[in-house]
Amino acid sequence: MFPEQAIEGNVFLITTSYKGKLNGCTAAWVSRASFEPKLVTVSLSPERFTFGLIAKSKKFAIVLLPNSKIGVDLSKIFGFHSGRNYDKFASIKYFFSSLENPIPKGALAYLDCILVRKIKAGDHILLLAKIVEQKWIKKGKVLKREKLR
Ligand SMILES: Cc1cc2nc3c(=O)[nH]c(=O)nc-3n(C[C@H](O)[C@H](O)[C@H](O)COP(=O)(O)O)c2cc1C
Repeated sequence: MFPEQAIEGNVFLITTSYKGKLNGCTAAWVSRASFEPKLVTVSLSPERFTFGLIAKSKKFAIVLLPNSKIGVDLSKIFGFHSGRNYDKFASIKYFFSSLENPIPKGALAYLDCILVRKIKAGDHILLLAKIVEQKWIKKGKVLKREKLR
């Protein structure tokens, strides 16, 4: 493992909806960026179907997963399939956040975010976004990258 890989800590889902189409993907490259206003960054490859939907919907949720089998299973569903040819929400239960982002049942918490700016970062694009609402659903430890290795 390279030291750069040890920077990664937690694993999340990034979900969105656009004109009735729901999708999301697993993401480890997520970070807080500012206290005031409350900003975060998510680094997504433009090849992700999720990226294209967020570019249009201009909103997404960062979903915190539990560090348990449910979290691992959800991270695999969302990280190993593309929404281009697979409906990730067809086989799971979910509800909608205030911004109408789909939140899978079993999530620990979510942050509803509005896209502020897209910043090119090599082969990825940083989504700089403002947190407009954040809620705990239940307490627990967040899914760790090492749980998936
Ligand atoms: C543990 C894990 C972490 C990931 N982190 C990221 C990430 O930070 N950024 C990214 O663009 N893709 C990341 N991916 C890859 C996407 O989740 C994956 O390509 C997904 O299938 C894309 O789905 P979509 O095409 O429906 O958006 C990660 C995958 C896994 C399994």
